[in-house]
Amino acid sequence: MKIAVLPGDGIGPEITAEAVKILNALGEKFELEEAPVGGAGYEAQGHPLPDSTLALARQADAILFGAVGDWKYDKLERALRPEQAILGLRKHLQLFANFRPAICYPQLTGASSLKPEIVSGLDILIVRELNGDIYFGAPRGLREAPDGPFAGAKEGFDTMRYSEPEVRRIAHVAFQAAQKRQKKLTSVDKANVLETSQLWRDTMIEVAKEYPDVELSHMYVDNAAMQLVKAPKAFDVVVTGNMFGDILSDEAAMLTGSIGMLPSASLDKDNKGLYEPSHGSAPDIAGKGVANPLATILSAAMMLRYSLGKAEQADRIESAVKKVLEQGYRTGDIATADGKVVGTKEMGDAVLKAL
Ligand code: IPM
Ligand code: MG
Repeated sequence: MKIAVLPGDGIGPEITAEAVKILNALGEKFELEEAPVGGAGYEAQGHPLPDSTLALARQADAILFGAVGDWKYDKLERALRPEQAILGLRKHLQLFANFRPAICYPQLTGASSLKPEIVSGLDILIVRELNGDIYFGAPRGLREAPDGPFAGAKEGFDTMRYSEPEVRRIAHVAFQAAQKRQKKLTSVDKANVLETSQLWRDTMIEVAKEYPDVELSHMYVDNAAMQLVKAPKAFDVVVTGNMFGDILSDEAAMLTGSIGMLPSASLDKDNKGLYEPSHGSAPDIAGKGVANPLATILSAAMMLRYSLGKAEQADRIESAVKKVLEQGYRTGDIATADGKVVGTKEMGDAVLKAL
């Protein structure tokens, strides 16, 4: 099995190196091939998603992705900025189903900014649609406003759109995920204001008929943002669009103590996937050896489970991560009073030892 390793920018190379170390220790015959992406792709080949990197990603059975982005590319035209790498991979490979679990490990309840009783035992899953919405909707651009009170002024515009089959396919993914968990699905939208959301909601209700064992509820996105900090444990699976999912998944991540703990999977219809930590490239701490590699290591575990059919190996990695947390190993982002703070490499080594 072939795994494309795309470390990217900022802390990306440091954290993927630790995940690769773990993958290589499993005793499996994986073929790992690395390629530049994001700012690194731009430096190497003049484009954030070089053709050769995209070709490797297409050909691989799974993709392990670090992170992209750095302030130094902010002045480039949008098409050449690092973020286009991840957006391009999602679009080209039709990775429409994004799984973002938020689990609060018992050892880390103290690292959350919320009271322990609100977050302890938290285990929710955000299913974010990843190929549509205002992220990719055309038309978009900059122009002279054609009408309205500011006609003639410079204006930026984007288009939020979802087609029924697009909503339907993510609905099926979410319902099936809920079936494997507590069978509670909350669909998040803004149906009180947006047409896109009305179609989203109607389609969810339609698809729900095929899953009578799952309890479907609906929530407006503003209320969902509030409920996530008020009573997050009331959620099981949340399904939402690309834009709302981007925002809510960062919020959910923070409930767990640190976004540095959260893995993610982005899957196509055949479960081929790209696996990446939910956090970004953190250029401010890049190269310092202090980043938390656990989200990337846990992403590798998701890869084994969802795309490579190696659930047992995934369990081994997840158990090893729990063990190092029990042993008190902490990177700076999850530092707790009772833990010992270690760097990126030491954390990777501790997981390796536990494995
Ligand atoms: C994420 C990130 C990306 C997104 C950026 C880097 C384009 O925030 O994966 O959540 O907005 O989807
Ligand atoms: Mg985001």
